[in-house]
Amino acid sequence: MSDTRDTAEIGLIGLGTMGANLALNIAETGHRIAVFNRTPARIDAFMTEAVAEDLSPNIVPARDLSEFVTAVARPRRIILMVPAGQPVDDQIAALRPLLDAGDVIVDAGNSDWQDTNRRAAEAEQAGTLHLGLGVSGGAEGARSGPSMMAGGPERAWTLLKPVLELAAARFDRDPCVAHLGPGGAGHYVKMVHNGIEYADMQMIAEVYGLMRDGMGRGAEAIAATFARWNEGPLASYLVEITAEVAAATDPDTRRPMLDVIADRAGQKGTGRWTVIDAQRRAAPLPAVEAAVTARVLSGEAGARARGAEIFGTAEPLDLPEADLEGALIAAKILAYSQGFTLLATAGAEEDWNLPLPRIAEIWRAGCIIRSAMLDDMAAALGDATDERLAFAPRFADLLRRTLPALRRTVAVASTAGHPVPALAASLGYLDTLRQPRGTANLIQAQRDRFGAHGFERIDRPGETGLHGPWGAG
Ligand code: 6PG
Repeated sequence: MSDTRDTAEIGLIGLGTMGANLALNIAETGHRIAVFNRTPARIDAFMTEAVAEDLSPNIVPARDLSEFVTAVARPRRIILMVPAGQPVDDQIAALRPLLDAGDVIVDAGNSDWQDTNRRAAEAEQAGTLHLGLGVSGGAEGARSGPSMMAGGPERAWTLLKPVLELAAARFDRDPCVAHLGPGGAGHYVKMVHNGIEYADMQMIAEVYGLMRDGMGRGAEAIAATFARWNEGPLASYLVEITAEVAAATDPDTRRPMLDVIADRAGQKGTGRWTVIDAQRRAAPLPAVEAAVTARVLSGEAGARARGAEIFGTAEPLDLPEADLEGALIAAKILAYSQGFTLLATAGAEEDWNLPLPRIAEIWRAGCIIRSAMLDDMAAALGDATDERLAFAPRFADLLRRTLPALRRTVAVASTAGHPVPALAASLGYLDTLRQPRGTANLIQAQRDRFGAHGFERIDRPGETGLHGPWGAG
């Protein structure tokens, strides 16, 4: 055992796909990394991979937890890449008696930010440090450079910064990793990233649906359209992989892959967490709500078949490609605007003072929602005078130009009976935000009528709890 003592600069527990790829990435940056996994067979498979990639000299495989801990030089930096929830607490509990004061545990999974807040406080009590690290980019990103969102004590960040900056994706030469605040700040930002990811994916899927079901286009033609869009303002990882998956053929049936994949989407929960958190803070994200709802309804195949029997299915439609592209551009800006508004609200409420322009910057490369537009968003958030990204001059201009396309798309789709809930939600969001005199006066009147809830009058500002002449109150 003693032969491996202090031989690694950093450690990683959890050699699933993400953990294994991140460990190889860190080894490749020149850091010696100790690795451990509960199932020893996984460590062997990982070492075979490491040998094949010529990275084994930088890797110290440990057979048990105490060998692993002694292999890492102090103050220890130990990355956990285990499933969110109880497994993280279990792993921390197993590690804690083996750690020394000042050691850092980095939770690199998709943990609930409130769990991260709690774990950071528990670590402080125990004299250790906890860094919550949102890691985005999937398996490829973990291997070649993810975008990483850190939250936790300054000291933990200082210890991890050099390692993470080398492992991170780069936009130009800027590493896509930043310390965003204390406690759960990093995991919070990763959660909102995922919420935006849900909206982005859903809006793309809605446009795909219009082309497939409304315009009778095959997967190959749809792939070509997305590939073209990826050359313009929509250039992004998600549009790029949409073109790629739409062009793929099933080796068994020779049919387009998309045509053989069941139309039921999974979800691990981060999108739903975003929506719930946003509603609690009164900073709603209707596009993300629509996306989460769409994933849930995708699981109701029986109800959808029954609905089609009763009401019939959608009619053909025709929309110029330029409208579909414009609709996606407008809806995307609005979804991101909703996401950044939530980040601003949470940053203020939690006293994190989240650096919004920096968040946009570290999303420019490595993460799932990386896109050309994020560079402009970073700039717009940097000189923001308005609290909403959609109102920043450069995005307001782009929205003015693309909104008519979004309107036509939503109108034509709705008339023909095609579901476009996320596109419509984004449009409704903007239309609500440009209605100076809203309709909540009626809501207030109704509330007062049935429950004597009281209202304010426009001609007596500041006076609350007034009642109408309907006998209530
Ligand atoms: C990323 C992804 C990643 C993962 C999520 C999405 O940023 O790399 O968001 O974290 O794919 O688990 O999950 P679901 O779609 O399963 O909720």
